[in-house]
Amino acid sequence: MEHNAHQTQKEKIMEHNVQPSKHTTSRRSFLGKGLAVGGAGIVGAGLFAKGLPAFAEEGSASLTRGDIAILRFLAAAEILESDLWQQYNELGGIQDSEVPGGSGSAPYTTALQVLDGDMPQYIHDNTEDEISHFTFIDAYLASKGADPVNLDRFRTLPSSKATGAQQIGRLTNIMQLTVDTSWWTKYRSRTNNPDFGDTFAQAIPGLSKGQFPAIPRHDGDLSPNAHIQAIANTAGFHFAFIEQGGTSLYPSLAQRVTNPEVLRILLSIGPTETAHFQTWHDKAGNAPALTDPTNGLVFPNLNASPFGGEDFQTNLIMPEPTIFLNRKFPAVSIIRPTETQGAAMGAAKALTDDGLFIGQSKEFFAVLHELAAQADEARRES
Ligand SMILES: [Fe+2]
Repeated sequence: MEHNAHQTQKEKIMEHNVQPSKHTTSRRSFLGKGLAVGGAGIVGAGLFAKGLPAFAEEGSASLTRGDIAILRFLAAAEILESDLWQQYNELGGIQDSEVPGGSGSAPYTTALQVLDGDMPQYIHDNTEDEISHFTFIDAYLASKGADPVNLDRFRTLPSSKATGAQQIGRLTNIMQLTVDTSWWTKYRSRTNNPDFGDTFAQAIPGLSKGQFPAIPRHDGDLSPNAHIQAIANTAGFHFAFIEQGGTSLYPSLAQRVTNPEVLRILLSIGPTETAHFQTWHDKAGNAPALTDPTNGLVFPNLNASPFGGEDFQTNLIMPEPTIFLNRKFPAVSIIRPTETQGAAMGAAKALTDDGLFIGQSKEFFAVLHELAAQADEARRES
């Protein structure tokens, strides 16, 4: 019986493979959308001849093209996350056999530990988790005959020159960040939800404008104390920004997955992003109030006027209940946003706006937008 049931399911999945999706649109329309939304990227004429295969699912044994597209975008996002976390770990985490590379920066690590004595361990563990996420997703894709994602050719950005960092090419830039800190108030609001079009106040207004390092760029950044502390504070708010993004991305994309096993992957990885976010939300609240004497960046006391109250109080680290689906329903404690339409492109845009890709090539942006566009074209099939 079990065997038959399995066979039927397998046949059903295979069927998806041979029948083109009802919702599939042409490569040309993907391109148009990616360009329109992405803004930063310009697709060179030769890109798709030498770049990622646009339709890698051909030859796949059991997944729909939509599922593959969603997994490939998530693999790319996890590779990018791993790259930035690796840079944090080299200077402020624990360098060991699980997360090798770098030798640490004592002044930076000490500043991070003002937020929590366990920061190096948490940074290490978050880094290892992200590495495991992309490694697993890529291995799963390969097991299904689909192309895994590899962004190694884009590892071109410079490393920090501070003592303790490896001198290797990077995918991401965490030395010129513009950190959106509205996640802080978004998760404290009881009446608003980004899925309703609502916007939220910045917890650290200064961080949301301009460009700031989240790691020391060179040994000159290790003093004075208020400067290296501002860099550690920036990291503290950036950690939560990154992980709240992953917290929304997985449930947003899960709504358009077809295969139950792929759904299981998204439902199993996504909440680990939430575990990270919850931790970082707590630690960011410990960032000391200060003004960076080198650039004027202000970290205000979030518990005092004009901040304070439910929108800013630092120990309100669990999601407040808010509106969901329809205002007629009672408020509920939820992840937000979880709108599925355009979720992948939204994530790509958020990471771009963060400054993570400053210095990256046009080809990089084109590939990122193509992966996002294909993931956003995925539809759950019955
Ligand atoms: Fe992850």
